[in-house]
Amino acid sequence: MSNESLAKRRAKYVAKAAYSVHPFYPERAQGSYVWDADGKKYLDWSVGIAVMNVGHTHPKVIDAVKKQAEKFQHICFAVGMNETYIQLAEKLNEISAGDTPKKTFLVNSGAEAVENAIKIARLYTKRKSIITFTRAFHGRTHMALSLTDKAHPYKAGFAPRAAEIYRAQYPYCYRNPWGAKNEQECADKALAALKEQVKYSIGEEEIAAFIIEPIAGEGGFIPAPESFLRGLAEYAKEIGALWIDDEVQAGIGRTGKWWTVDHYEGLEPDLVTAAKALSSGFPLSAVIGKDYIMDKIEGGQLGSTFGGNPTAIAASLATLEVIEEENLLERALEIGAVLKEHLHKLQAKYSQIGDVRGIGAMIALEVVKDADKTPFPEAVDKMVDHARDNGLILLPTGTYGNNIRLLPPINMSDAELKEGLEKLTAAIEFALDAVTA
Ligand SMILES: Cc1ncc(COP(=O)(O)O)c(C=O)c1O
Repeated sequence: MSNESLAKRRAKYVAKAAYSVHPFYPERAQGSYVWDADGKKYLDWSVGIAVMNVGHTHPKVIDAVKKQAEKFQHICFAVGMNETYIQLAEKLNEISAGDTPKKTFLVNSGAEAVENAIKIARLYTKRKSIITFTRAFHGRTHMALSLTDKAHPYKAGFAPRAAEIYRAQYPYCYRNPWGAKNEQECADKALAALKEQVKYSIGEEEIAAFIIEPIAGEGGFIPAPESFLRGLAEYAKEIGALWIDDEVQAGIGRTGKWWTVDHYEGLEPDLVTAAKALSSGFPLSAVIGKDYIMDKIEGGQLGSTFGGNPTAIAASLATLEVIEEENLLERALEIGAVLKEHLHKLQAKYSQIGDVRGIGAMIALEVVKDADKTPFPEAVDKMVDHARDNGLILLPTGTYGNNIRLLPPINMSDAELKEGLEKLTAAIEFALDAVTA
């Protein structure tokens, strides 16, 4: 069946709410490539929104899934405990940041991990208030949506939101509201503003947790400065609140470490949420937390029918092994360095590339119209469409839709990297040469 005929059936049978950026119907995928219903081949630099870090249909992952599916698909951890749940928890605890012993709880999606992290934080601290940030995306279930920042299309119309959630300014230094001229000043101002808000508007003794993405993903791939994260961690500890590190998009090797916070010596979140690349496309997510926090929650207080599904766990164990065996943390750093260098060269040519940022293989370019940094989403749409027509799948991101996020597979070959950069460059030239001329 062709893309066109599938589009007609989709319009007839599928809820409009299930939005797709690209009007294509993938039929099969292998490694860094996807083929659509018309047989067209694409290099995939979106990898299912940061899910297929080890590429599509990795033989080791597929083999592990097949083997598990043949043994059994689902008993339910709440009924009887699969050994692989324990194995994955052990592995995640081992690779988590810091020396404090950890414990892991498994559920199904990023949003569900976030929901559970908030529940854990509230039970543990016996407090109610949660601090989230501008630019945040934590998912679309009720609590997660309340923590998410963007009104359209995510939040508008879905009020009332969960109670006792307060929003502080994320340190988006390229567009910071304090007029800070450099990253350090921006980080300092953001931290000072956060403390002021907590101390005088909310009450320090009320705060159960701060939840923050170390790189605001849907917000535009904005890394929080190291000193801000350090200051946040110290402040949380000082006032008896928890620091929830949402690594759903940035974790599992995407930034060249298991976790983004691993880039910063000695930082240890109280709770970490992981999903997406954790299990190469099989629904699975995790809350990994300091053991003394996790152990405060009694048996049965948290749960999920599908959470810790054995097939997804098999995919996850294989994915983590692939990352280790193929040295993909190092490879993500290499890929990221090449991407950044190339984008910086293009930035020197095009003033509309206002910012190039990110860590490891999680890189974005922010496109602006002028020196006032007026967002230029029209140019980004043109780039994304041009790239797709030319066989490269990209995704826009950011509050204003004026960023392109690059999420290539972290096991991509040099030839694929070169091919992607050529196509990306052609898309940028196509969109910006017209406005520059
Ligand atoms: C940082 C972050 N947290 C949570 C979520 C929600 O994950 P899910 O879509 O699996 O519910 C996302 C999804 O993009 C995310 O990027």
